[in-house]
Amino acid sequence: MKRSISPDPYTWKKEYELNDKLYDEQARKFLEIINQMRKIIAGGVKDRDISDIFFQLTYYHEQYMIREEINMKKLNYDDFENHRESHKKFIDHILAFREGYEKGDEDVYDEMYFYLEKWFDDHMMVADRSAVNYIAGTRI
Ligand SMILES: [Fe+2]
Repeated sequence: MKRSISPDPYTWKKEYELNDKLYDEQARKFLEIINQMRKIIAGGVKDRDISDIFFQLTYYHEQYMIREEINMKKLNYDDFENHRESHKKFIDHILAFREGYEKGDEDVYDEMYFYLEKWFDDHMMVADRSAVNYIAGTRI
């Protein structure tokens, strides 16, 4: 069954915080992107142009993920290769969504929305959290 998407925005919660400036800043921005998608999909917005969302996601990849990877490598993070691989898969997915969008595929909206939501839950809240905990452990 297809899940419905509410137009109401997610609000930032204390439990999302990883207590790291770089990670918290990117997670907040990412949640904003999810909220923009929610509004476009469910809020009856006239302009369904999501080019800016693709721009923001590319920025997220270039600015935050690359910085994460540089830090992880510097600190010999033991899960670095897996983490980097998941970042690569993420940007490959986004590029594929963009290609679909440019061809006029309407399914891209829902598919990308759920993909972003899952990324927030599984990557940012779990994989990034593990990395932050590792990094924090090296600052003694
Ligand atoms: Fe990450």
